[in-house]
Amino acid sequence: MDHFDWDDAFIVRSEAEHQLHYCHGSSKESENPSRGRYHQDFTILEKRELCANTYYFKVNAPLLAKKIQAGQFIIIRPNLDSERIPLSIAGWDREKGYLELVIMAAGRTSTEATMKNVGDSIQDVVGPLGQRSHVAKYEGACVVLGGGYGTGAVIPTARDLRQLGNKVYGIVGARTKDLLILVDELKAVCDEVFVTTNDGSVGIQGFVTHALEKIMEREKVSMVLAVGPVPMMMAVAKVTEGKGIEAWVSLNAIMVDGTGMCGACRVTVGGKTRFACYHGPDFNAYQVDFGELVKRQQMFVAQEKIAFEAMQR
Ligand SMILES: Cc1cc2nc3c(=O)[nH]c(=O)nc-3n(C[C@H](O)[C@H](O)[C@H](O)COP(=O)(O)OP(=O)(O)OC[C@H]3O[C@@H](n4cnc5c(N)ncnc54)[C@H](O)[C@@H]3O)c2cc1C
Ligand code: FES
Repeated sequence: MDHFDWDDAFIVRSEAEHQLHYCHGSSKESENPSRGRYHQDFTILEKRELCANTYYFKVNAPLLAKKIQAGQFIIIRPNLDSERIPLSIAGWDREKGYLELVIMAAGRTSTEATMKNVGDSIQDVVGPLGQRSHVAKYEGACVVLGGGYGTGAVIPTARDLRQLGNKVYGIVGARTKDLLILVDELKAVCDEVFVTTNDGSVGIQGFVTHALEKIMEREKVSMVLAVGPVPMMMAVAKVTEGKGIEAWVSLNAIMVDGTGMCGACRVTVGGKTRFACYHGPDFNAYQVDFGELVKRQQMFVAQEKIAFEAMQR
């Protein structure tokens, strides 16, 4: 683990709290003096449906909200018997102590998460994980592109880029207008936002790359960040490569521990093995072996199907 600063890995699990009394030499949980300090209650404070199968959640998490940075992520376990799933952070309030999440029901565990309602709790949450997004003051414009839940993930980075004095464009794409999410929230942190739909039901007809090309024709672009499905991130890399543009993509590899120890999220970037959870999730778009990423994402399709069907029974 090169350059890993464990002080920066602020790991919070509600279940860990139940073990703390052993560390303090007491066999009774009630005698644990750290209970107040470490107690975490991940209650859902707000829930909104953004589009079919995709929900916005505001979750109480004061310690995490104090420390999280744009581009980092968390891993949640919705219920005691759930698997753990990585989720990006769409926002936070350090004073009020909450995180904002966008969760798309993709399979068993994400569906379990989206079934939670206001007042329910998430069993446990680990984070902040991964590295913060790369931000700097650029000569030309910055463009953030979001597809699906990725639109939530680019909002904090867009805000950081703008605070550094950059001109920031946002692009949100979806198959059709009913699937577009968080357009107003992205507008609040960008100079201008373009919307694209494959069917042309609203905005520019086509893919997010069509809007990106329009911006590139109009002015100098220095940096892009794309978060969304792999084909979208690959297309962004193709459109920008060789044009002097710094391009970042957030890799949604399958993850288990999220701290760089299990190797589940192994990706190849610039010919080197990297762990998306620790070295990323953002990587140089031109150096990612997307083919390998897609192959590894599909490794457990059969088991995922069985798990989803078992949940529905
Ligand atoms: C760093 C990171 C940030 C993420 N942020 C968000 C987020 O903010 N909101 C959100 O809804 N989802 C996010 N994801 C994806 C989310 O973690 C997966 O959808 C989830 O793990 C699927 O678990 P499941 O049990 O519901 O479905 P599974 O049964 O495991 O899989 C169902 C389907 O989802 C696909 N899938 C499985 N794991 C992933 C994955 N890691 N990424 C993409 N597709 C996957 C499978 O190939 C399958 O098609 C993120 C993933 C990563 C790695
Ligand atoms: S999830 Fe285990 S090394 Fe990244």
